[in-house]
Amino acid sequence: MRTTVGIIGAGPAGLLLARLLHRAGIDSVVLEARDRAYVEARQRAGILEQGTVDVLRECGAGARMDREGLRHDGIELRFDRRRHRVDFPELTGGKSVMVYAQTEVVKDLIALHTDEGGPLLFEAKALAVEDPDSEHPRVRYVHEGVEQTLECDYVVGCDGFWGVAREAVPRELSRVFERTYPFGWLGVLADVPPSNDELVYARHDRGFALLSMRSPEVSRLYLQVPDGTDPDEWSDEEIWDELERRFETADGWSLKRGPVTSKSVTPMRSFVHEPMRHGRLFLAGDAAHIVPPTGAKGLNLAVSDVVTFARGLVRLRETGSADRLDAYSETCLRRVWQAERFSYAMTTTLHRAPDATAFDDRLQLARLERIATARSAATDLAENYTGLPFG
Ligand code: APR
Ligand code: PHB
Repeated sequence: MRTTVGIIGAGPAGLLLARLLHRAGIDSVVLEARDRAYVEARQRAGILEQGTVDVLRECGAGARMDREGLRHDGIELRFDRRRHRVDFPELTGGKSVMVYAQTEVVKDLIALHTDEGGPLLFEAKALAVEDPDSEHPRVRYVHEGVEQTLECDYVVGCDGFWGVAREAVPRELSRVFERTYPFGWLGVLADVPPSNDELVYARHDRGFALLSMRSPEVSRLYLQVPDGTDPDEWSDEEIWDELERRFETADGWSLKRGPVTSKSVTPMRSFVHEPMRHGRLFLAGDAAHIVPPTGAKGLNLAVSDVVTFARGLVRLRETGSADRLDAYSETCLRRVWQAERFSYAMTTTLHRAPDATAFDDRLQLARLERIATARSAATDLAENYTGLPFG
C-alpha cells in the first residue's frame, strides 16, 4: 500500500491528525495495533484546553463535545482545610477549559473518519519504520496475520509511549530526559453526581486527591497511592473514607458517595525524547513525551503536536516552503517543555513524597498560599492550565 502520510496509532494524536489531513485534502493511512472496542473503551483524562476545543470545532469534530461537554471557568485548590478558587476567564482574558473525556474524543474521531476519511486499520501492528531519512520511508506492519509494507512520503509516529516509531531514530541522535515519581494515582469512576461544580485539586499530609467528573451524573476521583499499588488492595469503602479525609474542609463541605464502576492505578512519569523528528519521521503525542497527569496536559500536547505537523505540511503544499515542517521538532519541544515544567510544578506542589520533611510540607503550603494571594502566581497557573498558544 502507498500513501502520503503513514500514521502509526489511533489514539487522539493519530486520529486527529488523520482528520486534519483529510480536511486539507491530504491522504493518509492509520495503522492501529488494537481493536476498535479496546481503543474506544480506554479510560484516560478529560480536560480539553481552549485551543484543543477550538481545533476540534474547526475540523468538524466538536458537535457532541459542544452538546455533552462541560465548560469550566475555574478549578479549586484545597489545602490546610481551606478552599481557594482560581478563576480562568478573569485571569486569562476569557479562556476556559472543557470537561469532555478523551475516550469520547476518540469515539467521535473514529466515527467521523470511518464515514468520511481514508483507511483506518485496526489490529494492524507496526513492526518498524524503515529508511526514515530517505524520500520514501516505509512502515512494516502485520495485519490479519500477514506482514505488509506501507510506503509513505512521511511517517508520523503517534503510537504512544510503548510504540515502535521512536526506535527508528538512530541511537546516537536520540536524547531522553526522564523522571519517575514514587507514587501513582488510584482512579475511580463512580455513579454519583460530582460533589463540586468544578475540579478540586487537594493537597493533604496523607497525599494528593483530585475530584473530577465525566458528566452531571458520573464522578471521576483520584487518590495518590504508593508506586506499584494493586487497585484491589483498596475496597470501595476505604477509597471513599480516604477521599473524605483528604478533601475535608473547615466549612463542612461534604463528599457524596455512590457505586464505584471502575478502579485502576496509573503510574506517573515525566519523559521527553529529543529530537521529535528524524528525516521524514515525525513523533507526536505520548510517543515523544509524557507528563504526569496533574496538569491535565497529555492529550492537549498530542493535539498541539499534530496541529503543528498538519500546518507545516499544508504550508509546504501551498507555498513550496518546508520551513515550518523543518522547524517541527523545535516548535513542538518549546511547548512540550513548558508543559513539562507546569506538570512538574503542579505534581510536586500537591503530592506528598514518601521522604518529605516538615520543611517540604511548609514549602508546598507557601506555594499554594502564593497562588491564593498573588494575582501573578494565580495568572501563571490559569494561563498554563487553559493552555499556552500553539506553536
Ligand atoms: N502499531 C500500531 N499501533 C500502535 C503500536 C504499534 N506498534 N504501538 C502502539 N500503538 C497504538 C496504541 O494501541 C494506541 O492506540 O498507538 C496508540 C497510541 O495512543 P495513546 O497512547 O492514546 O497516545 P496519543 O495518541 O499520543 O495520546 C496522548 O494523552 O492523556 C494523555 O496518555 C494520554 O493517551 C493519551 C495521550
Ligand atoms: C480527569 O478527569 O480524568 C482528570 C482531570 C484533571 C487532571 C487529570 C485527570 O489533572
